[in-house]
Amino acid sequence: MKLCMIGTGYVGLVSGTCFADLGNNVICVDKDKKKIKHLSNANIPIYEPGLSELVLKNYKNKKLTFSTNLKKSVKDSDIIFICVGTPTKKKGSSADLSQIYNVSKEISSSINKFKIIITKSTVPVTTGDQIEKILSKKNSKKKFSVVSNPEFLREGEAIRDFTYPDRIVIGSNDKKSNNILKNLYGPLISKGAQYVHTTRRAAELIKYASNSFLATKITFINEIANLCEKTGINVEDISIGMGLDKRIGGRFLRAGPAYGGSCFPKDTKAIISTADKFKVNLSVIKSVIKSNKNRSNLLLDRVYEILNKKIKNKKIAFLGVTFKANTDDMRDSSSLSMIPTLSKKGAKIKYFDPTGLKDEFKKIKNVSYENSIRKSVEGSDLVIIHTEWNDFKSINFKNLIKNKKCIIYDMRNIYSANKIKTQGFKYYSVGR
Ligand code: UDX
Repeated sequence: MKLCMIGTGYVGLVSGTCFADLGNNVICVDKDKKKIKHLSNANIPIYEPGLSELVLKNYKNKKLTFSTNLKKSVKDSDIIFICVGTPTKKKGSSADLSQIYNVSKEISSSINKFKIIITKSTVPVTTGDQIEKILSKKNSKKKFSVVSNPEFLREGEAIRDFTYPDRIVIGSNDKKSNNILKNLYGPLISKGAQYVHTTRRAAELIKYASNSFLATKITFINEIANLCEKTGINVEDISIGMGLDKRIGGRFLRAGPAYGGSCFPKDTKAIISTADKFKVNLSVIKSVIKSNKNRSNLLLDRVYEILNKKIKNKKIAFLGVTFKANTDDMRDSSSLSMIPTLSKKGAKIKYFDPTGLKDEFKKIKNVSYENSIRKSVEGSDLVIIHTEWNDFKSINFKNLIKNKKCIIYDMRNIYSANKIKTQGFKYYSVGR
């Protein structure tokens, strides 16, 4: 099939590439000329394991092409995926849909034959209705169908998540587009993915409800971890004991720092804003946001406790600063509040991240980047493990740290307390 992905950010580039790999002809469009030039030279703007190899393979096969010409690309395609950003508005907490509507207007003047227009970007309930209105101004309703097909890719696991999804959600109000899309996703359905057909509005809400529920699960276990710390219980026992109940499920029950990233913080805020519009109070999600906001303060309080409230001039090594492992994404990472706060209190911070130096910390006093684990932990009083990269999973602290008084604070529960204690260091973790 001939597909056009509008927006070559995370969702557009990954799904466009994966669709090409399934044998479709895909044009990835972006108005950013520099980005398209880089992509045409197989220069990938985002960090995602396995993506550059797959882009290169399909670009060479001519299954994947890049363009800045939206109108022509739409004319040449049968299915158009809108994959532009829907960030939180500068004022308020609702999603900024200006890019979605601008793109819809451009598509509107390029509908030369029947087209399916799909929102893959996360969009609030009724956005599809608005797109339909825009397109109807210039086109007969017989010439297009507006569908919602939310994407559930996790950064760092995006190709796997696309290829082996738990479910594919298609929200369409007509049979024709549903049949075409079932066919498009056929190769994934035959490998076991569940195909869920709903109304367009339901599909839009499924995405927000899913992300809000996952954020709730994480926040829930983080609060239980607080209780475990006070009662001498290992939170991992709780996660296992709860997770084996099929009604609960074991995933997303890992306690740690505040959740972050490009989706959970943004989508939890946006669903509340949508509900407000319809005069519905989503009190559970509101308290999840509040609890998550407070999470970094709680972990910082633990740092003060560990260091006997003496932070000034303490040398702290920070391992991993992105919002989780296997990504270079800093959006809403808890390190963005923790590192500046520690610096304000007089700590001297050396950080290392497998994805390199971060501009966000360039101007912060007493914060420097080191290009190896060894250099960052050298001479430290405290080592904070902030993300769960494999690089951090088998560090020989004994070899790297001469100061036996150095303390390890493992915010991702990578190590067992015994393993670190036998190396001669004091060890703290989360919820145990
Ligand atoms: C998320 C959703 O999972 C994906 O389906 C969606 O469409 C996009 O948003 P992503 O933001 O890439 O994906 O990361 P994810 O792996 O979901 O983690 C989000 C945050 O939750 C991270 O900060 C992570 O560290 C945290 N997390 C996750 C936990 O603290 N504990 C867990 O058990 C799982």
